[in-house]
Amino acid sequence: MNKPIGFVSRIDNFQALEPHISAQIMELHHGKHHQTYITNLNAALKTQAEAVHTSDITSQVSLQQGIKFNAGGHINHSLFWQNLTPASSPEAKSSAAPELVKQIKAVWGDEEKFKEAFNAALLSIQGSGWGWLIKVETGKEQRLAIVTTKDQDPVVGKGEVPIFGVDMWEHAYYLQVSSCSQKLCLQP
Ligand SMILES: [Fe+2]
Repeated sequence: MNKPIGFVSRIDNFQALEPHISAQIMELHHGKHHQTYITNLNAALKTQAEAVHTSDITSQVSLQQGIKFNAGGHINHSLFWQNLTPASSPEAKSSAAPELVKQIKAVWGDEEKFKEAFNAALLSIQGSGWGWLIKVETGKEQRLAIVTTKDQDPVVGKGEVPIFGVDMWEHAYYLQVSSCSQKLCLQP
């Protein structure tokens, strides 16, 4: 059997993401929610290996949806952790990615219009899912695009490469919403 799948993260201090992103949520998000996808994926892959070994095709088929969901959760969150950096970091500034900014301006005009389009796409997601900035490679050409995926579906279309993704699952922000609700934040 292959080596069990584990975390891929470069963040060792979620406090550095405050006040923009709650460290408490990120610790739960990383240690509980992402871990659950990994645990379930490893269990499903183990069962699948046994089903392959015994030529149990029915079991192999029945495992596919769970493998897709949990593998997608692992793939998506692995990129998510790689994308996060403290606001004070030089990597958080547009100047850290001049070629990306150039390509964004070529498609959306300027960074603010890109943000508006990105936000609109993400807010259109019904239920749980992800919003992505992706690179689409077709032959010798490549372009940027905004796409959304449902639940934990990863970006796996032909020629599609995710650049960064925003987790629109409730588990990415529910403590803040709960806290806000308790303080009646929506009222003036
Ligand atoms: Fe998540």
